Order: sequence, then structure tokens, then C-alpha cells
Amino acid sequence: MISKLLQDAINEQINFELFSAYLYLSMSAHFETQNLSGFANWTHVQYQEETGHAMKLYKYVFDRSGAVTLKAIAQPATKFKTPVDIFKEILKHEQKVTSLINKLYELAVKEKDYAAQIFLQWFINEQVEEEKNATDIINMLEMIGDSSVSLIMADRQLGARKAN
Ligand code: FEO
Repeated sequence: MISKLLQDAINEQINFELFSAYLYLSMSAHFETQNLSGFANWTHVQYQEETGHAMKLYKYVFDRSGAVTLKAIAQPATKFKTPVDIFKEILKHEQKVTSLINKLYELAVKEKDYAAQIFLQWFINEQVEEEKNATDIINMLEMIGDSSVSLIMADRQLGARKAN
């Protein structure tokens, strides 16, 4: 059985992953209105991934005979700047998620919950990927510049991302 402390912390993380999903969906809606369907696709796939992260945590709480309490999801930003600014925001957001996952892991260590430590390793690895994806796209956008042709090229590339 999971400790109450760790259960509550995972519940908070479920909420933050759902907020992440909501934030990416808001970004996707923004890109749709800009007619950047590739960027909209990439952020929509990410929305689905974040929902998956929340559900992975949700299931784990029950696997350990804990309880899930769902709280209100904060409103995400609705106004955004340029694509490169958005990906810089994404990187900052993912760095925050990484710090939250690290704190969860530290709690699992403190609670001597070895099963939770192993479970959380998946999220630690996932955050390496999440930060790398955002960094790669920032680098690409900065390299190609912000002309219309560059944007169309980047949009085509991001449009190729498929859901896992
Ligand atoms: Fe669920 Fe993007 O971290």
C-alpha cells in the first residue's frame, strides 16, 4: 500500500499533468487559428501524451490500493506569441514538470517506497525526452529564421508527428 503522503503528492501530479494537457490543447487551438496545422498537430499529439501521463499515475494509485481525488484544473494561457516563443514556453514548462517529478522521486526515497521509485523512473526518463524535443524544435526554428517559407517548412515537419 502507498503512504498517504505519496498518494497525495501523486494526486497533485495527476492534476499538473492534466493541466499540461490543457495547456498544449490551448496552444494547439492557437495554431489552428493561425492556419499552422502542423504545429497544431504536434501540440495536439502532446496533449494526448500528457493525458496518458496523468492516466498512468491515476492507474498506479489504484494498483497500490490508494485513492484518487480529482481537483479543478487551472485555466491555461490563451494568448501566445510567435512559434519559437511558444516552444520556449514549452521548454520552461517541461523543466518545471521535471522538477516536480524529481520531488516525487525524492519523496518516494524518503518514504522508503522502492516500488514507487521504480515506477517513477519511467517519468524521469520521459522528462529527458520532453525537454530534448522542445530544445530540438527551438534550435530548428532559430536556425531557419521566421520567414514565411521557413515557417511552412517547419509546419510540414511538425505535421508528421504521430500519436504513440
Ligand atoms: Fe507529462 Fe510533458 O510531462
